[in-house]
Amino acid sequence: MSGTIAAPRGPFRIGDRVQLTGPKGRLHTVTLREDGELHTHHGVLRHADLVGLPDGSVVANSGGHEYLALRPLLRDFVMSMPRGAAIVYPKDAAQILAQADVFPGAVVVEAGVGSGALALWLLRGIGGTGRLVSFERREDFAEVARANVETFLGERPENWDLIVGDLVSALPETMAPDSVDRVVLDMLAPWECIDVVAEALAPGGVVICYIATATQLSRVAEYLRATGLFTEPEANETMVRGWHVEGLAVRPDHRMVAHTGFLLTARRLAPGAVAPEQKRRASKTSYGDEDVELWTPGAVGDRQITDKNLRKRVREAQRAAEAAKAAAGTAGEIGQSGPSA
Ligand SMILES: C[S@@+](CC[C@H](N)C(=O)[O-])C[C@H]1O[C@@H](n2cnc3c(N)ncnc32)[C@H](O)[C@@H]1O
Repeated sequence: MSGTIAAPRGPFRIGDRVQLTGPKGRLHTVTLREDGELHTHHGVLRHADLVGLPDGSVVANSGGHEYLALRPLLRDFVMSMPRGAAIVYPKDAAQILAQADVFPGAVVVEAGVGSGALALWLLRGIGGTGRLVSFERREDFAEVARANVETFLGERPENWDLIVGDLVSALPETMAPDSVDRVVLDMLAPWECIDVVAEALAPGGVVICYIATATQLSRVAEYLRATGLFTEPEANETMVRGWHVEGLAVRPDHRMVAHTGFLLTARRLAPGAVAPEQKRRASKTSYGDEDVELWTPGAVGDRQITDKNLRKRVREAQRAAEAAKAAAGTAGEIGQSGPSA
């Protein structure tokens, strides 16, 4: 099976998606048509004026306002495409490709496909000779993903199968045991899928889970360990901090996307293999009352306040409040009568 998608290169052609950055940085994305026009309150830009120009050209509209024209990069596209479910951000998609070692020719399984953002990155990673099989249990989300992939690539890739169904039941029906090189799980309860993933993965194959919360991270890590079928799972998260670089003002951006998700990676062991113990395991995988007790303020060294002391603090706080109100009243009287000269 092979993919035959044309590379987005060369002068602009009819049918190309073009991102136009206009006055004050406003972005417009258009698909070039013979008689297409972009109407804004700054004037009209004819699509025909872009056709034949190289990527990265600047064109003026009827009002003389200039627009920078560029084909959107994949990261631009995924951030602005229609979403059914939340997408994997480009920073995490890049890490998924690297940490799962997605290679040209790989057989990759993905679930759930959601809006199709990660599917687009995976299709890039596997190239024309690989195969991507994406599973999604919601028909409506699968439709969004299908449309997004076709919009970006211009057609449905031959080496992409999109299967509507729950991975737990659909994976064994679709993929033979030991036939998958990489599995990417992006869903609320990845631990529910680990058994079928273990069966589908070839020995040495990689499973990578993209997980939103620390509690899910813990649960899937413990599940992977308990199967005894995988290497010790590795967890991390990726933070990308932008920088403002202008003249002598060179500093990190004030704002950033601080949290998207965690990545957890493990590799399938050969049948019957037992991984050598590498580090001391935590003695517990769930918490009892005595564990919770260890984290009470007293146990961690915060002094517990006595009832008598607490009453004293209440009186202190009330006296401070009365004093503040009295001071405010005095200030109010001064304010009403005007400041004395
Ligand atoms: C956060 S979204 C995935 C987003 C996607 N990775 C992207 O980048 O656009 C999670 C999706 O997993 C689907 N899902 C959850 N559990 C599933 C399962 N067991 N089998 C198939 N799909 C599942 C949900 O319906 C949802 O669409």
